[in-house]
Amino acid sequence: MGFAQRLVKSLAYRMGYSVKRLRPAPPARDGVVEGGVPADEIACRLHKVDPYEGFDYGGYEYDPSGWGSQSPAFRKLIGERADRLGLIVEVGTWKGGSAIEMADALEGAGSEAKILCIDTWLGALEFWTDLDDPERHGGLALKNGYPSVYYQFLANVCHRGHQGRVVPFPQTSATAALWLRANGVRADLIYIDGSHEEEGVYADLCDYWDLVAPGGVLFGDDWGWDGVRMAVQRFARENLLDIRHESDKWVLDHREL
Ligand SMILES: C[S@@+](CC[C@H](N)C(=O)[O-])C[C@H]1O[C@@H](n2cnc3c(N)ncnc32)[C@H](O)[C@@H]1O
Repeated sequence: MGFAQRLVKSLAYRMGYSVKRLRPAPPARDGVVEGGVPADEIACRLHKVDPYEGFDYGGYEYDPSGWGSQSPAFRKLIGERADRLGLIVEVGTWKGGSAIEMADALEGAGSEAKILCIDTWLGALEFWTDLDDPERHGGLALKNGYPSVYYQFLANVCHRGHQGRVVPFPQTSATAALWLRANGVRADLIYIDGSHEEEGVYADLCDYWDLVAPGGVLFGDDWGWDGVRMAVQRFARENLLDIRHESDKWVLDHREL
């Protein structure tokens, strides 16, 4: 792509349009688009029955083990904008380690913001390539060949008392992005930690970038993974964005319009 094309594309993004998809991204304040679903109504738009209702978490030990979930970046990014946070979206939740870290940070900051957790809870490629990996394949907790790790996530949220804040959305990142767009939802922070394959990460960046509210950030884990780093660098290059780093996370800032 030539310089002029990149410039036009970048300007178009700033005007609220994704050239890649030509879908309008309406202006948002605190994650709420005019006529869109407010953060505290997302749970009941997605679930007719509260997913935590009647769930007996007593049989599950608290086990939020995962990757990069204790990073100081969560508290830093949340603390910087705690007074204006409405919604955090997480793509890739696993057992809930990072979501719970963010929920604890929000609670500490006195914020009412919600966290929408998007995950199939079926694992990514690397969870299915080594059947002897106790963390990844073992952590899927297969029951008759189908993962049940979702219930460990649900139990962890209950152990920490975050049921009112953490909303599960058991869906692929692509379909969940369509739902958010269709419902006029934009988030102040979007954490990308789903697929680690270059094409998968790049697709998530394209799908979620214009779901970030102005002044918010898209950030993610695993800069050390080639697929992640190459996708982030490619997306940033194509859209004339600067990549910065906050502890172990990469960060793309969505500028105020
Ligand atoms: C590395 S784990 C997330 C770790 C988590 N953030 C933590 O704190 O430990 C990646 C998760 O992304 C999910 N995932 C991978 N690709 C996905 C996709 N395309 N859509 C939805 N979830 C996906 C997997 O099921 C898995 O639970």
